[in-house]
Amino acid sequence: MAEIIDGKALASEIKEDLKAKVNEYFIKHNRKITLAVILVGENPASKVYVNNKIKATEYVGMKSLSYYLPETVAESDITSLIDTLSEDKSVDGILVQLPLPKGFDEEKVLSHIPAIKDVDGFLAENVGNLCLGKKSTVSCTPLGIIRMLESKNVELSGKHAVVIGRSNIVGKPMAMLLLQKNCTVTVCHSKTENLREITKTADILIVAIGKPEFIKKDDVKSGAVVIDVGINRTENGLKGDVDFENVKEVASLITPVPGGVGPMTIAILLENTYNAAIRRDELGL
Ligand code: GUN
Repeated sequence: MAEIIDGKALASEIKEDLKAKVNEYFIKHNRKITLAVILVGENPASKVYVNNKIKATEYVGMKSLSYYLPETVAESDITSLIDTLSEDKSVDGILVQLPLPKGFDEEKVLSHIPAIKDVDGFLAENVGNLCLGKKSTVSCTPLGIIRMLESKNVELSGKHAVVIGRSNIVGKPMAMLLLQKNCTVTVCHSKTENLREITKTADILIVAIGKPEFIKKDDVKSGAVVIDVGINRTENGLKGDVDFENVKEVASLITPVPGGVGPMTIAILLENTYNAAIRRDELGL
């Protein structure tokens, strides 16, 4: 029977630690670290994520600026807003919740965020530096997963890590981080042949495919560490990408949904924002 990795508890620890540091920052600099969040359109899941991010931002003592724009907004109005926030010295981080509604050029919109304020780690400069093993801001979900693995002292060096999903937000940066930790990494995706044969060879299995309970007990090696990135709304409630109840019988460590990766993503976002503020001060920006 697997031990459960409690992402909610670990995220709480990170937030408590940050709360103290954010307060120290305020005392030293007489200003609140500030995160600006932009949501375009009415995607219900995005609204929930953004509200959770705003609540957590305020919980740790940072200032939250939120911009809710209708999906009829002109792309140039979004980029003008980002340009204004980029120039604003009181703003440390800028986050545009993805996905943007159909018709918007995500890459073009994001490109208006300066790398130093890119607390999501989505920009080419940050992704490129990650690939080169240089200092960078790293996408929150994959970095949160590494922190979860480290919290349980999971041995990564030399192990076979299988990542299912190749998105820019999760799969690709996840693969890079695991490679940096000396894992042998396999990235699987929708076109992968014999995917379930590959997952059976994983010591560490990271699932970000967006299909409820896609990974079954028979797909998992005995003793594997299983990380579930999925959040799927189904008739039977919120489900991950892993058949948790059965897979936990064979795994050694497993994350639940909810209460696993989700809270860690937000905690790391706040940490990235704090680090952005410190770096801006160091660089005098
Ligand atoms: N959409 C899904 N995950 C994320 C995330 O981590 N950041 C942003 N901005 N949008 C997302």
